[in-house]
Amino acid sequence: MSADRALLLALDRAHVWHPYTPAHDDSRPLLVVARAEGARFWDHDGRSFIDANSSWWVASLGHRHPRILAALERQAAQLAHIALGGLTHEPAVLLAKELVETMPGHSDARLPSDRQLSRVFYSDDGSTSVEVAIKLCAQYWAQSTSARRTRFIALSGAFHGETVGATSVGGIDAFRSVYGPLLFDVVRAPSPADPRGWERAFEAIVTELQKCRDTIAAVIVEPIVQGAGGMRIYDPAYLRALREACDQADTFLVADEVFTGLGRTGTFWACEQASIVPDVLCSAKALSGALFPFAATISNERIYDGFRGGRDRAFLYGHSYCGNPLGCAVAREVLAVYRDEAVLDRVQAIAPRIEAAFHAIAAEHPSLSRPRAIGAIGAIDLGDQGYLDDRGWRVYEAGLEHGLYLRPLGDTVYVAPPLVIDDSTLDALLHGVSSSIRAALFG
Ligand SMILES: Cc1ncc(COP(=O)(O)O)c(C=O)c1O
Repeated sequence: MSADRALLLALDRAHVWHPYTPAHDDSRPLLVVARAEGARFWDHDGRSFIDANSSWWVASLGHRHPRILAALERQAAQLAHIALGGLTHEPAVLLAKELVETMPGHSDARLPSDRQLSRVFYSDDGSTSVEVAIKLCAQYWAQSTSARRTRFIALSGAFHGETVGATSVGGIDAFRSVYGPLLFDVVRAPSPADPRGWERAFEAIVTELQKCRDTIAAVIVEPIVQGAGGMRIYDPAYLRALREACDQADTFLVADEVFTGLGRTGTFWACEQASIVPDVLCSAKALSGALFPFAATISNERIYDGFRGGRDRAFLYGHSYCGNPLGCAVAREVLAVYRDEAVLDRVQAIAPRIEAAFHAIAAEHPSLSRPRAIGAIGAIDLGDQGYLDDRGWRVYEAGLEHGLYLRPLGDTVYVAPPLVIDDSTLDALLHGVSSSIRAALFG
């Protein structure tokens, strides 16, 4: 170990508080990362690792994409920050237009104009994009003349972020129970990723919608995949049925695409796989190309109309960095890279290989369960002990030995690599996952 690295580790142990990590956790190795490029990063000693989870799902276009870095430099030379209250700027305006053009239903002439996702509200990260969605829906109904709806329906196994509102709609006990007294009350519906099928979950949510008649402000879901809940994939038919049920109940459907958006599941937005248009769509993570936090919440015209009028009806929200020009310029370039570099075609090319690899792992180890895959996501369960199980961490440590950064979700081992990962790096990743599982659990 070089002296520099030893010093950094000592200072880290003294001062840095790591996310989702026990205090004074000396039991696991701590990598000191010096550099990242594409699908890999390098530690202080020059060892290379494949970033199997795109650094918590942000590096969908890889690390340090040259076009995105160049866009950042260009924008920084012009205008790095300005408030968005009473001011506007080119990156904010053009990004809003370009984002709207990507929205589900955008080119669908049959979609009523007030259902078009056409209004963009900027914020800081995935959690705040969800807070914005919650407050948009809550304030819409608070100033509605026809109904006062104040409650949210959210799913078991859902994850929507870290802030208190986002934690309230989250449905993973391990992350929410300690904060219980702070959280607002949510109507909880079962996860559609139930192995017995989505239909039971749908019946249950319809029952709740009927029971809580006229009180539900919105239903919030992660479309197609519940990510942090363990890569729980469900049938798009559930979303189609839910869209109809929300229409019948005249309540809003919020799609949290913070993880699933920007091609992760194979289409640009996961909602496209169900051919549905939500009332509100949340986006962050990959939207700013793994450079820094940036988010957008896109709502339809009906919701926007509810805020027309005097100052007393304005949306009561706005972070300091709302619509930051660097974030907007970077996100515009991210969208351009998706258009120019056929990123979704690449997802179609790597998806079958990821799927085959996870099925092969299951075939080799029959005690492992539920191999599953969609788009650039593959996962398998090591057991049914949930988030606090240690086996995933044993695989994680074996992964480091094999040159992979393979952070588990409890007892779920998964990959969600950069969508642009090249063939040989993908081979090394999938082979490494298999070897790491074998070494950690069956060696
Ligand atoms: C679906 C979903 N929503 C929201 C968030 C919160 O995003 P952030 O960590 O950027 O606040 C996450 C984070 O994993 C997520 O997966």
